Amino acid sequence: MKTILIVGASRGLGLGLVAEHLKRGFDVIATVRKAADEAELKALPGSERLTLHHLDVTSDDDIARLAKDLPADLDIAFINAGISGPKSVVTASADELNQIMQANVFGPVRLAHALIGKVRRDTGILAFMSSIMGSIAENESGGMEVYRASKTAQNSLARSLWIGSAKEAGVTVLSIHPGWVKTDMGGAGADIDVDTSVTGIADQLAAHHGAHTHHFVDYSGREIAW
Ligand SMILES: NC(=O)c1ccc[n+]([C@@H]2O[C@H](COP(=O)([O-])OP(=O)(O)OC[C@H]3O[C@@H](n4cnc5c(N)ncnc54)[C@H](OP(=O)(O)O)[C@@H]3O)[C@@H](O)[C@H]2O)c1
Repeated sequence: MKTILIVGASRGLGLGLVAEHLKRGFDVIATVRKAADEAELKALPGSERLTLHHLDVTSDDDIARLAKDLPADLDIAFINAGISGPKSVVTASADELNQIMQANVFGPVRLAHALIGKVRRDTGILAFMSSIMGSIAENESGGMEVYRASKTAQNSLARSLWIGSAKEAGVTVLSIHPGWVKTDMGGAGADIDVDTSVTGIADQLAAHHGAHTHHFVDYSGREIAW
């Protein structure tokens, strides 16, 4: 029996990751922001192995409370929460720019630092939901510039976290691109459905067990250039 924490599980990929890992026999700990979002999770097959917590990744108080309440033997901590934010760095307000950086960068990375001691030494995995849009090398189309920058910054801080504390503890760090997925964020015209993405992501988590590296991979295992 393995234990996975999934942060940002109310809908979309987070909800899909909970369903997939319950199907695979994991004990799942998941977070939502609103009590109203618990019902769909509690109705999933295998939900007798599901524990729910409330967390906004931008709240230091929520991060401290979750870190205190979690067991110290997480096989995987998966920080999925994220927003798409404003389209243009020029027209966005300072509040909008601050909000996306708090939600996609500083909140997730500060949470990861708070959780690193709860992830199993030597075999555990700390995963961030990044995006191919965070790749500078593979940006050939532009667009979504603030979102891109947020995921690039998240990747950079994930690397620093790996070097600073995860590597010494033998914890593997993954920055994962889920594909372009049909969710509220991805839209109906996206390439793949949630099931295809989360099945591939769960396979990648299993494949990187004990890897002791920081890699940027997509749901199919393709290595993405930084
Ligand atoms: N869909 C794609 O094509 C795609 C591609 C590349 C990367 N991604 C990444 O995949 C992740 C999930 O995206 P999705 O497509 O599933 O989007 P989504 O359907 O919009 O879901 C976003 C999730 O993040 C949660 N969230 C947002 N801000 C939060 C905060 N401050 N604290 C805690 N939870 C928060 C939301 O909770 P609420 O319900 O409470 O708002 C929701 O559970 C994101 O990090 C996104 O950047 C998605």
